[in-house]
Amino acid sequence: METMRWQDDCLVLLDQTLLPGQVKYIQCRDVDTVCDAIRRLAVRGAPAIGAAAAYGLALGARCINCQDSELFLQQVKEIASRLAATRPTAVNLNWALRRLLDKMEAALPAPPDQLKELLLAEARAIYDEDYRANQAMGQFGAALLPEQANVLTHCNAGALATAGFGTALGVIRAAHRQGKKIHVYADETRPLLQGARLTTWEMSQEGIPVTLLTDNMAGYLMALGKVDVVIVGADRITRNGDVANKIGTYGVAVLAREHGIPFYVAAPLSTIDLSLSSGREIPIEQRQPEEVTHIGGVRVAPEGVQVWNPAFDVTPARLVTAIITERGVARPPYEESLAALFR
Ligand code: MRU
Repeated sequence: METMRWQDDCLVLLDQTLLPGQVKYIQCRDVDTVCDAIRRLAVRGAPAIGAAAAYGLALGARCINCQDSELFLQQVKEIASRLAATRPTAVNLNWALRRLLDKMEAALPAPPDQLKELLLAEARAIYDEDYRANQAMGQFGAALLPEQANVLTHCNAGALATAGFGTALGVIRAAHRQGKKIHVYADETRPLLQGARLTTWEMSQEGIPVTLLTDNMAGYLMALGKVDVVIVGADRITRNGDVANKIGTYGVAVLAREHGIPFYVAAPLSTIDLSLSSGREIPIEQRQPEEVTHIGGVRVAPEGVQVWNPAFDVTPARLVTAIITERGVARPPYEESLAALFR
């Protein structure tokens, strides 16, 4: 199942809000459609958002009718700002846009037609590299899993959240393909149910045994000794190893520590933000109250109730056993091990 593809000058996105009920693709022919798809989580997951934004910028640039390279650059930068404003937490979004802008600026004063091709080529490279990174992460991560393991995960850090294969689910996938007996526990992940809707679907498609539980059941499951390992993805990891990921991840990490269960984070280097010293500096996206007051479009809370709806939380580095990347596994102290991965 492809999360996205570039086809006939159009970005085609799988609409993840409709899964698993419907498999429907959105044809994005302008940047507004891409921004809207990112904002409403039709495309979601940090690496997938980064790749979609890169394609979105290439798409927006192709719609610019201008022969002057400097003016063209200004307009591309405006489009990049619009894309960057869609979701603030996953750093892959800014990382991908920055990469395209840098590429373009380095090529100046090339004519706009050439710059348009360059942007598309760079977007394609980001997408392809992400796929390869996930496979490498899968190999490094699978080596950490025992021959037989019950693995709990939160949200969806799978093929759907990336260019393919997945980060946390990529590790599980790789271990499964190596013949390890992996059974997945998927937290449903309220409010938007990425675990229930997407992770269970992805795992079932691959034939990996999966059991769904609601978020508040994880503690009891661990207390019963039924979880061997926790693996999650990340939206942004700071220099000291603090991890922003889907809301609820922090609680899972605390529970894992209490029960002596390893807590792994799988993420590509594009998710690591060395410019931030700690998780306190990560902007956390606040989303609409309706995501909490409603489930599947049905109101479950009284009209007018106040709602708190952060989309992500921050797990402090001290609760993270290791960070699995495409260049290897980083362990505490992260300030040193993460920096070493970039050298
Ligand atoms: O709001 P979402 O669905 O975009 O949140 C996704 C997550 O939190 C994922 O765990 C994270 O982006 C890693 S995806 C490989």
